[in-house]
Amino acid sequence: MYKNVSFKEITDQRGSLVALEQGIEIPFDMKRVYFIYGVGGDDRRGLHAHRNLKQLMVCVSGNCKVLLDDGGEKVVVSLNSPSKGITVNSMVWREMYDFSEGCVLMVVADDIYRECDYIRDYELFQEELKK
Ligand code: TYD
Repeated sequence: MYKNVSFKEITDQRGSLVALEQGIEIPFDMKRVYFIYGVGGDDRRGLHAHRNLKQLMVCVSGNCKVLLDDGGEKVVVSLNSPSKGITVNSMVWREMYDFSEGCVLMVVADDIYRECDYIRDYELFQEELKK
């Protein structure tokens, strides 16, 4: 359903740098990067699954939680470091919540935005899992 990934930090007296390269830290062909930020502490995002999309999620600032649900198992992952993240498979329901003040969640995806790839109804998600 998901994998923890961690990235090499290049740190000196000026601070730290993390580089993500396709085929090394990013285990798929990267087509899109987007950022989610300015989310209130009581707001919940996501609430969908993707039919085909694969993603890498990293909190590059602050922290948030991600609930992942493959229809059988549910796990909650805390994202709280710019040098650690998760890769998430397709057909996994996800909800992001408990965003800290100043949280910036970066998502790298293996395709451009296509609304037809989204399943935004949990019952439909469960039905499509059975196919
Ligand atoms: P939405 O999928 O609801 O965000 P989240 O999963 O974080 O809750 O997307 C919010 C809006 O942004 C929606 O109108 C679709 C649009 N959008 C794009 O135009 N491009 C993108 O890459 C993404 C992820 C969303």
